[in-house]
Amino acid sequence: MNMNTKIYKMDAEASDEVMLAEAGEIIRKGGLVAFPTETVYGLGGDAMNPSASQKIYAAKGRPSDNPLIVHIWDYSQLEEIAATLPPEAKKLADAFWPGPMTLIVPKNDRIPYETTGGLDTVAVRMPSHPVARDFIRLSGRMIAAPSANTSGRPSPTTADHVWQDLNGKIEAIIDGGVVDIGLESTIVDLSDEVPTILRPGYITKAMLEEVVDEVRIDPGILSENEKIRPKAPGMRYKHYAPKGDLTIINGSADAVVSYINEATAKAESEGKRVGIIATEETCKLYTGGEVLTIGSREDEDAIAHNLYGILRSFDALGVEIIYSESFSTPRIGQAIMNRLFKAAGHHMIDV
Ligand code: TXA
Ligand code: MG
Repeated sequence: MNMNTKIYKMDAEASDEVMLAEAGEIIRKGGLVAFPTETVYGLGGDAMNPSASQKIYAAKGRPSDNPLIVHIWDYSQLEEIAATLPPEAKKLADAFWPGPMTLIVPKNDRIPYETTGGLDTVAVRMPSHPVARDFIRLSGRMIAAPSANTSGRPSPTTADHVWQDLNGKIEAIIDGGVVDIGLESTIVDLSDEVPTILRPGYITKAMLEEVVDEVRIDPGILSENEKIRPKAPGMRYKHYAPKGDLTIINGSADAVVSYINEATAKAESEGKRVGIIATEETCKLYTGGEVLTIGSREDEDAIAHNLYGILRSFDALGVEIIYSESFSTPRIGQAIMNRLFKAAGHHMIDV
């Protein structure tokens, strides 16, 4: 498996339809094309072609029981592949599609089990990124796409991140620049009685509750008790993980900075390389380590946007230990901390 991965470069706001038609042809022939969305880059293949789905698992090194998200550009495509649709589907789609929300619904037999990891439900998302929408439309297919990273690594927020992981393993990458949000979509399961969030994201519980009466959060993603398993298979794996050993330090800014400074000095005296995820407010207070600034504590969009890129930078710097401040921001804070917790293997120290 070593092919010449082609790059189609274009502006996020101005799709190149000639290039997208060529990329669409790759999809129709059963090949794989990575493409930008507003959340993270996806690794796309024809959702109705079982062998394309198998190639996606192989390229990512992903367990084949972890289902893919089917990307559409028009609501009628959801109706085409759902066995039944609860009334909430239309309400949520009207409010949040195109956008960073994935709906899980019972599937019919048009979608192969290879795409859903053997499940009778299918995850569907209508992205808002103009290049993603044009690409899906011009391919003439629904596009199955997980995040375009090697399984276990942080999701890609630039085409270069995709290249680092998948060069030589896929036919092409559509480079539409840096993505906007930087964290994966909110997953809402509509296959149970009450709509349930299986993965937090930019669209929050409060936002969903403005549209439908009741929304639950899957207890498996809140609990640190490993016996309560998340319903989304992908949320069960250690994930988003940098190579260095990451610990979150939680407490007042002063206490966090002095804890990290002491721990860093100790680790460095033992010859270890340390990385620190800092904020604009604190970055000047660190006395050692490789300090990377994620943004202002007040700017949660920036924190979401920069998180995966920073984790990848630490991989490139070869740090062995990483300390991160903790971020309890009001709106997408839950999504940020969910990803950071997983990256840290749930290792947090209160100071
Ligand atoms: O923002 C996103 O959602 C990005 C972009 C590319 O659209 N995609 C993405 O896909 O994050 P992926 O494959 O990395 O994550 C999909 C998650 C996994 O945790 C998977 O287990 C879950 O969705 N999932 C997919 N189908 C499911 C189903 N039928 N039931 C429960 N969980 C499902
Ligand atoms: Mg992923």
